[in-house]
Amino acid sequence: MSQSLTDALADIRALLLSPQLTRAVAAGRQRGRTPSVARAQLRPVTLRAGTHLQIVTTDGTRPLTRNVAPGPPAEAAVDELLAEPFGNWHVETTDSTVQLRVTKKGAAQLHRSTADRAATAPAGHDRAKQYLLDPDDPLFTAIGASAAKRRQVDAFLRALAATLPDPLPTGPLRVVDLGCGNAYLTFAAYRYLVDAGAEPVVTGVDVRTDQRRRNTALAAELGYADQVTFVAGTIEQAVVDPPPDLVLALHACDTATDDALARAVAWQARWVLAAPCCHHDIAAQLRRQPAPHPYGPLVSAGILRERFADVLTDTLRATLLRAAGYRVDVVEFIDSQHTPRNLLLRARRGGVPDSPAHQRAYAELVDQWNVTPRLQTLLAAGTTSGDTRPPATAVS
Ligand SMILES: C[S@@+](CC[C@H](N)C(=O)[O-])C[C@H]1O[C@@H](n2cnc3c(N)ncnc32)[C@H](O)[C@@H]1O
Repeated sequence: MSQSLTDALADIRALLLSPQLTRAVAAGRQRGRTPSVARAQLRPVTLRAGTHLQIVTTDGTRPLTRNVAPGPPAEAAVDELLAEPFGNWHVETTDSTVQLRVTKKGAAQLHRSTADRAATAPAGHDRAKQYLLDPDDPLFTAIGASAAKRRQVDAFLRALAATLPDPLPTGPLRVVDLGCGNAYLTFAAYRYLVDAGAEPVVTGVDVRTDQRRRNTALAAELGYADQVTFVAGTIEQAVVDPPPDLVLALHACDTATDDALARAVAWQARWVLAAPCCHHDIAAQLRRQPAPHPYGPLVSAGILRERFADVLTDTLRATLLRAAGYRVDVVEFIDSQHTPRNLLLRARRGGVPDSPAHQRAYAELVDQWNVTPRLQTLLAAGTTSGDTRPPATAVS
């Protein structure tokens, strides 16, 4: 809902000073203006002297914490923060979540959702520690995510938090979610990054036009329409301009993960997090030919061949990324009881001194197993669109 900024800030003020407040975060900046602090976080704390308002501000390097007494001191501190040109306010109370976003034109977009649970402050605090985004957060109700998906998304966000630098970069952080489907991760990543003090500009890409329509309507409903947009197109070719700093891909099917990685390299994205889904491509290549001696038993049974194909595919992907100049970790981002597709390739651009060694290791592996991964083909051909950044070095 669009309204005047003065009215919206008055609503936010009432919530910040209400006894129902559980947590609030102010971050980002209004067009052409810079707040004196990068981020402010408010929450009630119980001290011997009674309940105070705790305010933690950060200038982007170190946090400053103060506890303010209720009444005029809290009102003055809140008014001071409301006068800062923050671009976003996120306020949670025991019965609602309110998001205020200031548009480029200086208008206010206020989105209010009612919590569907009788939350109490202590439970809220416990949950906040357990999850980056509370699984009962109304955001998830709005986007319709199942409990299993909420857990997966939360685990993925934890891996994201561990990947990005601290403090987060200032200025717009361009993010793309490739194969976004229903955009659970897209919206949750946006919310998490705003809460963390970044200025995310997020694009979700999916080949399905119906998903683009649904997700775009949802972004408008949530008040995120300017910052979270959707493109219907293939991962290989969809136009994302300017190129993203951060590439996410959660369970993009089969070789769509290769398309996502090739695109990330072509864009020279600074950070890439990809959790692959099914791996059919290399499994099919292994099935068609004998294994090199003495590794026949590794692929003699169907299930062994499938599992080995998974390992070989992701090993080759990681090696190709290293050869392309990325530092790569291969980790489990969530326990396998939640999803068997729990492997995450996590890559940061730069700081890889021995690229020729990675290229040699890669060449020996594909040579012995006589396989041609799709990622290799894409990088060697350099056909994947890097939009406006120059193409990255191809690996043959
Ligand atoms: C298994 S779903 C995962 C969706 C979402 N990332 C999630 O985890 O909930 C895979 C999605 O990738 C999309 N997809 C698969 N191949 C694609 C391609 N080559 N280009 C664009 N989208 C693709 C599908 O349409 C589908 O929505």
